[in-house]
Amino acid sequence: MTEAMRDDEAMRDDGAMRDNAAIIGRDDVNDLAAIMAVRNTDWGERRHDVHSDYDTVFTWDYEKGARPKLDKLYEKAKRSQWNAQTDLPWDTEVDQEALVVANAAANGGFLRDVDVTGTPVASWGDAEWIQFGVESQNWTLSQFMHGEQGALVCTAKIVESVPWVDAKYYAATQVMDEARHVEVFSKYLDDKLSGHYPINAHLRLLLDDIIADSRWDMTYLGMQIMVEGLALAAFGFMHQITTEPLLKQLLRYVMSDESRHVAFGVLSLQEHYAGLTSAELRERQEFAFEAAVRMRDRFLQQEVWDKMGVDPKAVVPVLLQAPEREMFQNILFSKIVPNCKKLGLLDAADGWLRTKFTELGVIGFEDWADTGEEYEQLQQAPAQAS
Ligand SMILES: [Fe+2]
Ligand SMILES: [Fe+2]
Repeated sequence: MTEAMRDDEAMRDDGAMRDNAAIIGRDDVNDLAAIMAVRNTDWGERRHDVHSDYDTVFTWDYEKGARPKLDKLYEKAKRSQWNAQTDLPWDTEVDQEALVVANAAANGGFLRDVDVTGTPVASWGDAEWIQFGVESQNWTLSQFMHGEQGALVCTAKIVESVPWVDAKYYAATQVMDEARHVEVFSKYLDDKLSGHYPINAHLRLLLDDIIADSRWDMTYLGMQIMVEGLALAAFGFMHQITTEPLLKQLLRYVMSDESRHVAFGVLSLQEHYAGLTSAELRERQEFAFEAAVRMRDRFLQQEVWDKMGVDPKAVVPVLLQAPEREMFQNILFSKIVPNCKKLGLLDAADGWLRTKFTELGVIGFEDWADTGEEYEQLQQAPAQAS
């Protein structure tokens, strides 16, 4: 942890409230120029070190099942392990270009009704849009893979830092799940797609903040509630629209694990939050807001435009006007908002997070099913699921 981060944590421990600039580095959440100014400049980087100061906690209370819901989840997780190498039909042929073309045809063309006159893509024909679709898929699956590594590392940290034995047991099964998820996305990229992308700068900022925070419950909030909540929605969306059978099945397997992971976060934090003060809950709200904004920012796919040789600033603002774009962006929050509500985070501290989620345009999801309610249905054996 850097000195500045320690100061920041100390300041928050004093109960000081932070504004948008302090939380997300800009005043206006929708300031596109500021969002696009955050860039990954070290594309050739092979490793990335993050320092973290936290206590590794031993417990001498070995009573299994003291927290029955966590224990039930642990038993479920042990029965739900699958093998990434042998349980999926890896011999499926994947034609990326044909899938891009079919997807565009099903959705009314590459651009639908967006007017790109005067932008660098105005002269693009089918060949460029197909290439863009292929790169966009490479980018999306690459970011899934990096996010999965974030989950692997964060959950290993939870095994060390959470004080309850039932939670350590459960988290240990999640570490194995996440290793498998990194493995499947990496294999899919290598065997079926056509190139990897480095981690998006916004996603990396978020993962760095989650792993650097010394408080165990912040790891849960950042990873199990926010990142995995968004992943569950994103995988669900892609599972619904993709016509590629291998990817469809792969996502179904991963989703059955992810729903358990999000439920694990909700169950653990519900108990912990019951003992927190309003000022402490406000810090959790700020962290949830930061995570929400960082995840929204990453979906601009700046790196894809760079690769296509187009300045993202010249085209992203125009493409963002497409109505279905906003719908897609918002649907990603369909799991996060109800789970934050279940944890009491929307209305704690005078409803600060409710106000922020209203500004982001996602508060409408507050009464959707939370993952504690729906995870059972996602737990059916993936092999039997469609
Ligand atoms: Fe995962
Ligand atoms: Fe997960």
